Amino acid sequence: MSSQKSIAAIPGDGIGQEVVPEGRRVLQAVSQKHGIDLEFADFDFASADYYQAHGTMLPEDWFDSLRGFDAIFFGAVGWPDVVPDHVSLWGSLLQFRRSFDQYINLRPCRLLPGVKSPLSGYGPGDVDFYVVRENTEGEYSSIGGKMFEGTDREIVVQETVMTRTGVDRVLKFAFDLARSRPNQHLTSATKSNGISITMPYWDERVKVMSEGYPDVVWDQFHIDILTANFVLKPNNFDVVVASNLFGDILSDLGPACTGTIGVAPSANINPEGSFPSLFEPVHGSAPDIAGQGIANPIGQIWSGAMMLDHLGETGASTDVLEAIESVLSSGDASVLTPDLGGRGTTSSLGEAIASTIVSQD
Ligand code: NAI
Ligand code: MG
Repeated sequence: MSSQKSIAAIPGDGIGQEVVPEGRRVLQAVSQKHGIDLEFADFDFASADYYQAHGTMLPEDWFDSLRGFDAIFFGAVGWPDVVPDHVSLWGSLLQFRRSFDQYINLRPCRLLPGVKSPLSGYGPGDVDFYVVRENTEGEYSSIGGKMFEGTDREIVVQETVMTRTGVDRVLKFAFDLARSRPNQHLTSATKSNGISITMPYWDERVKVMSEGYPDVVWDQFHIDILTANFVLKPNNFDVVVASNLFGDILSDLGPACTGTIGVAPSANINPEGSFPSLFEPVHGSAPDIAGQGIANPIGQIWSGAMMLDHLGETGASTDVLEAIESVLSSGDASVLTPDLGGRGTTSSLGEAIASTIVSQD
């Protein structure tokens, strides 16, 4: 057995409570196979039930309860009938991202076999890139204010904040990722023609960073044409790095181009490991299908694969991805969930992926 990895499991609300157990089932199967000692601890906070019982989303000592874990395996938070969405999100997930300085938001965009994509003319393997989003500063700052409220002179100002540390660390992560991939290609999202102070600064830092990566080919596009190219030429991308706002948009558009939201994973990473990183599907709590046992668990399971990768267990991570692809390729309607055109359930799909891992060589 290798050293123990401790994981905080926070299922949250709605289908989060249905897909997290399937993620764990697959993680247990692959850990057993690879001799990885994964130890889970369960937490019921960051949920509407917890809010109803305690009047807050998190206990006072949440930071100390979670900081010692190697990673957080998160489902989804939000139940608008009970807690307004800004309260549930700011009261939990955004606290984790900021307090644990998870400054990288990483989302793979990959066409998988058996998943219907809105893009025509592309098959599995043709589209395979990452969006790296800056997750802590940029356009999402709280610096600004309102004056002369309610009068004709009403003024609102909100400032973009870019720090050298903040920009350089996300660029370094993205260049490192590009270097590790076969195509070694990085694309930077900019808008220096319109946003004339912060975006030229971003571009300047990209240029400086690139000097340390002569093996990485890089280019940059203004965000407007970049979004168009995600749809028109998605096979041109390998690693795409962007500020908080641009990355927010690109990291929804990218996975949308590759099919159902039910399969899209994401990682909120603190690369230095000073705090735990958080792995979660892109989707939310899906109140419209919650409780029916039909949610697609692949986004959660793939997030688990990203977590293994982050913990240095790359072989196990690859096994999970191969099992996902193999089950999707089989096209077995009795196993696949309705969003994939099947009549299976959350657990039939989770079980199929777990048992594929066990039977893989
Ligand atoms: P959503 O992602 O929960 O659902 C959007 C649509 O996609 C729904 O029709 C849903 O049924 C479908 N869907 C989502 N995941 C699916 C899956 N695994 N399998 C099959 N179908 C799936 O987004 P929505 O409806 O905007 O938000 C619902 C709640 O979730 C809100 O409270 C929102 O704030 C929260 N939310 C939380 C997120 C998080 O925890 N990171 C992210 C997005 C939303
Ligand atoms: Mg978003």
